[in-house]
Amino acid sequence: MTRQLHLLLFGNTRSAGPWRHPDIDHTTAGVRRALIERARTAERGGLDALFFADGLNFGPPATWAYKTTEDFEPLTTAAALSSVTEHIGLVLTGSATLAHPFHLARQFLSLDHLSGGRTGWNLVTSFAAAAADNFSARGVVDHDERYRIAEEAIDVVTNLWDGWGEDTIVADRQAGVFNDVSKIHVTEHHGRYFDVKGPIGAARSPQGRPVIFQAGSSSAGSAFAARHAEVIFTGQGNRARAADFYRQIHAKALAVGRRTPPLITPSLRFIVGSTEDEAARAERTAYEHFSPEYQAGWLLEVDVDVTGADLDGPVPSSAFPATTQTHQTALAGYRALAAEATTVREFLYRTVNGWGAQVIGTPERIADDIEEWFHTGASDGFVLSDSGLPGQLDLFVDQVVPVLRKRGLFRHEYAGATLRSHLGLEVPARFGVQA
Ligand SMILES: Cc1cc2nc3c(=O)[nH]c(=O)nc-3n(C[C@H](O)[C@H](O)[C@H](O)COP(=O)(O)O)c2cc1C
Repeated sequence: MTRQLHLLLFGNTRSAGPWRHPDIDHTTAGVRRALIERARTAERGGLDALFFADGLNFGPPATWAYKTTEDFEPLTTAAALSSVTEHIGLVLTGSATLAHPFHLARQFLSLDHLSGGRTGWNLVTSFAAAAADNFSARGVVDHDERYRIAEEAIDVVTNLWDGWGEDTIVADRQAGVFNDVSKIHVTEHHGRYFDVKGPIGAARSPQGRPVIFQAGSSSAGSAFAARHAEVIFTGQGNRARAADFYRQIHAKALAVGRRTPPLITPSLRFIVGSTEDEAARAERTAYEHFSPEYQAGWLLEVDVDVTGADLDGPVPSSAFPATTQTHQTALAGYRALAAEATTVREFLYRTVNGWGAQVIGTPERIADDIEEWFHTGASDGFVLSDSGLPGQLDLFVDQVVPVLRKRGLFRHEYAGATLRSHLGLEVPARFGVQA
């Protein structure tokens, strides 16, 4: 089968800045309508999935003045969106550090059933102090230990997901017996971090299991991702760095004996216009509607501190800590972006997509970049983000997607019903059962 491009879209647009645009309804009802419209537009374009990021906190206090109340809980949001869409996948962030694996397993499997097999779990190891403070007074767990906890959590979750086999449900009306109890697998997990008995009482999902997404980039993180992720998110500022990361992950996946490496979909922010002039105008509007104050506050979460610096002066070297325990990858990415920016304001604008890549231009120009990354071993697709301004997503769907289709890179319509099928992933064997 020809290799197909995979396109996901950030479900939540960055909530600071664009709300000031006169055509944006920033009331809660307006945000709800916009989310539904966003999901339907992405589905009209045949995109693989919507992705909802989450940090389990409202962000550093320095950002609070500028944020809209768009911070809905991702699973609940996705459940609502699953009933107004039919095909598009729904990928949600769930913390393997702060959420209990029993809850995670049950919630994701429930959503996978209710959405007809369209769910993915973005497994994160929560690093924010503000998130840790919402769950206990113990503070942030050490970076590598978070990955050890995640190892145990993913084991528990997949085990719970597979409690029911193909032949567990007998639904014998005559005898009044629904389940063959001998075919129910009870988890009985007793580990260092969790004790979970199970089962959770739901059949296997229509796609076998929710798809596992992961964005680990550090040494422990990428080892985890190479072992467990079916799709990897990453921020890579340019194609050369992305290709390097792609090669490393493939080598690590091979080394742990995987037959198929994970798909790798770096983040990509786009600004599109029918002509170069229109794209430049859209870019100016985006620049006018971004909030440097918010962005500076947001970066505090990854220990980058430009608060108090002159927005029109150079990025001070004091913005970056000498060493970090927690955000090695993010810091390296931000440092690289700072080196390319002439002012603090420019640097802040460039970080609205984290430390990921961006492309500004006509539909052909955007398709060229996507195609180049895809064909040169830098990515299997992208997680897209737009500027959050009116009309940009429509332009992508109506003008960029047709170019990608014409070039044979992207699907004309959904071939199957599940997220796994959109991504071309196999249904995994049941836990503990050889394929
Ligand atoms: C596209 C993308 C999306 C991410 N989404 C989230 C998220 O929703 N929540 C979160 O806590 N971390 C998120 N992260 C951060 C990663 O989970 C991870 O902490 C980061 O890549 C650093 O990896 P490391 O811990 O292995 O150094 C995201 C990263 C990327 C590249």
